[in-house]
Amino acid sequence: MNGLPRKIALLPGDGIGNEVVAVGRKVLELYQERRSLPLELWDLDLGAERYLRDGTTLPQEIFEEIRDRCGAVLLGALGDPRVPNLEHARDILLGLRFRLDLFANIRPCKALDDRLVPLKGKGASDVDFVVFRENTEGIYVNVGGNFKKGTPDEIAINEDINTRKGVERILRAAFEHAKLHGKRTVHMADKSNAMRQSGDLWQRAFAEVGKEYPEIAGKHAYVDALCLYLVQDPKRFEVIVTNNLFGDIVTDLAAALHGGLGVACSASIHAGKTPKVGLFEPVHGSAPDIAGKDLANPLACVLTVGLLLEHLGYAGELARIEGVVAEALRTGNCTREVGGTLGCAATGAFVIEQLRRAL
Ligand code: NAD
Ligand code: IPM
Ligand code: MN
Repeated sequence: MNGLPRKIALLPGDGIGNEVVAVGRKVLELYQERRSLPLELWDLDLGAERYLRDGTTLPQEIFEEIRDRCGAVLLGALGDPRVPNLEHARDILLGLRFRLDLFANIRPCKALDDRLVPLKGKGASDVDFVVFRENTEGIYVNVGGNFKKGTPDEIAINEDINTRKGVERILRAAFEHAKLHGKRTVHMADKSNAMRQSGDLWQRAFAEVGKEYPEIAGKHAYVDALCLYLVQDPKRFEVIVTNNLFGDIVTDLAAALHGGLGVACSASIHAGKTPKVGLFEPVHGSAPDIAGKDLANPLACVLTVGLLLEHLGYAGELARIEGVVAEALRTGNCTREVGGTLGCAATGAFVIEQLRRAL
């Protein structure tokens, strides 16, 4: 337990976000019922549907309520083909990450079943690492502009922002995680051979922060080579730390190593000393290609609820939830893309039933 409020904002968002958060909500309700956790669930009608209806993205009073009175947000996904410039997603998703200063996007990559590892000759024991993605800077800050737009001489500029403070704190969060979990290595991935100034800052900060953790080996990999090594030999990685954009790309690749986006969970937190509201989302998007067809895998969202409960101070619940998810995968009580026969709702029902027995 910690001092965080027990109020949880549920923001299903768009597409399959609605289907998977419906399952995540049931998991939280089960904890209320079986464990008497004093969780207060607050449903938010925000996303493309609402934006198209009345132009609302993230109202200031909702933002403040989240910031001041919630312990966590469970977000499904944002993105809808009817909003091509993703304006609502920028305000809501990036708005929450940036304005709440949730600088550590933590994306565990842990195979829960041998069958889900697509690499020849490799199994679950080969894939168990975590990516620390910087979540408040980089190319995502929307600093830039256009010149001569729409003409043959058009110029488009997106600035890549790297601050010493921002780089240092995500590196430290990665080393702290390694220390806490008895890991021996932290890999920092950059592109310092091409991106000279930012690469130089990351390199120097990595060397300096690394000195504070003599028991952990700080290793470097260029991000392109990291992608190669992840596929060739994922076992060599324990903790990876990288910038916002590289972290986004690497974690989709990493998801493919342990079953795909349907099982990849994430937490965005302000990894400081005082616990603050966190944002919890599956790594996947709104998947318009399968939305509304009961095909979405809810297990990424269920695991994300595990991360959320840990954040609120309920230690051990992620492991319990992982056990139940592993059972769904082992017995084929899961969706088709991970080798099962069920739809989203039925997979959710199986998980809830198993969890009910475990609680
Ligand atoms: P996506 O993650 O939505 O889908 C990529 C592929 O993975 C699709 O084939 C999809 O069917 C499959 N997939 C994703 N989640 C799945 C699940 N739970 N079960 C089974 N299959 C699953 O990525 P995309 O298609 O590139 O993006 C769609 C929209 O989502 C875009 O608007 C994008 O910007 C947005 N997006 C939002 C978030 C977020 O809100 N956190 C994350 C990623 C993408
Ligand atoms: C993710 C998504 C987002 C990101 C998009 C929707 C802006 O891909 O959470 O991985 O790039 O951070
Ligand atoms: Mn992504």
